Amino acid sequence: MKTDFLVIGSGIAGLTYALKLAQTKPDKKIIIITKTVADETNTKYAQGGVAVVNNLVHDSFEKHIQDTLIAGDGLCTNEIVELVVKEGPKRIQEIIEWGAQFDKDAQGDYQLGKEGGHSISRILHHKDITGKEMERALLQAISQQKNIQLIHHCFVLDLITQHHLGYFITKATPNIECYGVYALNLQTNQIENIQAAITMLATGGNGQAYRTTTNPTIATGDGVAMAYRAKAHIENMEFIQFHPTALYQQGISPSFLITEAVRGDGGILRNKQGEAFMKQYDARKDLAPRDIVARAIDNEMKRAGTEHVWLDCTHMDIEKFKEHFPTIYAKCLSIGIDVMKDMIPVAPAAHYSCGGIKTDAWGRSSIKNLYACGECASTGLHGANRLASNSLLEAMVFAHRAYIDSIKKIDALTQSSPNEGSQVGAWNAEGTTEPKEMILITQSLKELQLLMSDYVGIVRTNERLRRAMRRLDILFEETEELYQKTQVSPQLCELRNLITVGYLIVKSAQLRKESRGLHYNTDYPNKQNNNTVSKTEHW
Ligand code: FAD
Ligand code: SIN
Repeated sequence: MKTDFLVIGSGIAGLTYALKLAQTKPDKKIIIITKTVADETNTKYAQGGVAVVNNLVHDSFEKHIQDTLIAGDGLCTNEIVELVVKEGPKRIQEIIEWGAQFDKDAQGDYQLGKEGGHSISRILHHKDITGKEMERALLQAISQQKNIQLIHHCFVLDLITQHHLGYFITKATPNIECYGVYALNLQTNQIENIQAAITMLATGGNGQAYRTTTNPTIATGDGVAMAYRAKAHIENMEFIQFHPTALYQQGISPSFLITEAVRGDGGILRNKQGEAFMKQYDARKDLAPRDIVARAIDNEMKRAGTEHVWLDCTHMDIEKFKEHFPTIYAKCLSIGIDVMKDMIPVAPAAHYSCGGIKTDAWGRSSIKNLYACGECASTGLHGANRLASNSLLEAMVFAHRAYIDSIKKIDALTQSSPNEGSQVGAWNAEGTTEPKEMILITQSLKELQLLMSDYVGIVRTNERLRRAMRRLDILFEETEELYQKTQVSPQLCELRNLITVGYLIVKSAQLRKESRGLHYNTDYPNKQNNNTVSKTEHW
C-alpha cells in the first residue's frame, strides 16, 4: 500500500494534523491508522480541559508562560513555551470552528476552570468530558474528508528505514530516512508494508508501563519504542507525571480520574485523620503543581500505611458540582459514594509522559520524513513537569506546525523518482510459529507494571533503580527470545514496547543525578545548578 501522508494515531494530535492536510491538499492521499476503534485514545478521557489565554483583561501570555516555566522546573525550552502559549488561541478557535463546544456562562463568556500550578483560571472545558467532545468534533470533521482513509484495528509494528534494505544503521548513521511502516491489519490478519512520503507518529502515552494508571490500555508507548528502535533521538523519559487524584478502587485498572478542576473548584485533600494536609507541603496547598501534590499524598499514605487519601467535596455547592462534573458525580454514585456526604478515596496514578521522541519547533524528529506530535513527542514545552491541561494545547499547536512544514515538502517528495523505500520487501516472519502460551506475555506484563510502580514510581532511590534495571534485563531477554520465534500479535508487541519504554525511563532516571520536577531520588534530594542541568537523551 502507498500513501502521501501516513498518520499513526487517531487522538487529538493525529486527527488535527490529518484534517489540516486534507483541507489544504485535496489531491493528496492521507491514511490514518489506529490500533483499536478510532476514539479509543488518551484524548477521549481528558477531563479538565485546555489551558489557553482566553481573556487578555485578566490573563496574559506572560502569566501562562511563567506558570509553564515554573512547573517545568528549569528544563523547558523557553522559545517553545512562548510559541505554544501565543499560538494556542488560534488553534482553539479552529477546533471551535470544526464544532467543538466549550462551556459558557449566562453572559455567553467561556467558563474558565483552575488547576494546579496555574496562577489564574484559564482552562476551557466541556463539563468533565472535554477530551471526548474534542475527539467527537475532530472525528466528525475527518469523516467529511474524501482524501482521508481511516484504518481501525491496525497495529503498527515498526518504522521502515534503510535498516530494512540491509544497511547497518547505528546511532551515528547520518540521514536515516523513514519510508513508512509495517502494520498488522487485525481485520485481515495480514502484515502490510505501507509506504509513505511522510510519516507522523501520534501514538500517545505510555501509562500502561505502570500498575496504576489513568491511561486506557492503548497507551503502551509504541511510538517511542519503534522510534527508539529506528535510532531516533528520545529524551526526558524519567519525567512521568503521576496524577494526584485517581479514584481508588482496589484491583480496577485503568483508574477513573477525578479531575484537578474539582480541587480548582474547592475540593480539599484530607489524610486518614481528616487533616487538610497540603498546607504542610506548599503555600499553594491543594493547587500546588502535580509533582508536589502527588509526593505529598504518597508521603501521607506511607506514613499512615493506607492505600489512599480522601478528597473532600462535602462543603461544595451540589448544583454547581453536578453541572461542572456530571460524569464524576455519576461515577461516584454508581459505586456508592455520594460526593455531598462522603469523601472520595483517591491515590496517585501514572498519567502523562513528559518526555518522548525529540522534535524541533516544526514537529520534525531526528529521522528524515518522520514527524512526531502529541504525548509521544518531546517538544521542550513541559520540561521536568507538565503544567496541567497544557498537553491538548501542545498537540494542536504542533500538529499545525508539522502540517505547515509537511506541505512545503510533499510535492518535491512525491514528484521525485521512487525512493529506496519502494525496494523494501515484505515482513519477514521466517522461523516463527503461532503463540503457544499467552501466560508468557501476560505474566511478564504484570511483572513489568509491578516493578515500574514499586521501583520507578513517585519516589526513587539508586538501589530501586538498579533493581528495576536488573529485572528489566531479564524481561527483555525472555521477550526478545519469544519475539524471534513467535508470530507477532499486538499483545506481544505491546509488551516488547513497554519493556523498551521501561528501560528508557529507568536509564534516564539513573542518568539524572539530582531531584527535579517529577523525578525525585532520595539519594540526590537536591537540584543541580540550573546552568549545568541538561536533558537526558538516548538514541
Ligand atoms: P492519544 O489521544 O492517546 O492517541 C493515540 C493514538 O495512537 C490512538 O489512536 C492509538 O490507537 C494510536 N496508536 C498507538 N500505538 C499504535 C500502534 N502501534 N498502531 C496503531 N495505532 C497506535 N490533557 C490536557 O491537556 N487536559 C486534560 O484535561 C487532560 N486530562 C486527561 C485525563 C486523562 C484520564 C488522561 C489519560 C489524560 C489527560 N490529559 C489531559 C492528557 C491528554 O489527554 C493526552 O496527552 C493527549 O490526549 C494525547 O493525545 P495524542 O493524540 O498524543 O494521543
Ligand atoms: C485533569 O483534569 O486533572 C487532568 C488534566 C491534565 O492532565 O492536564
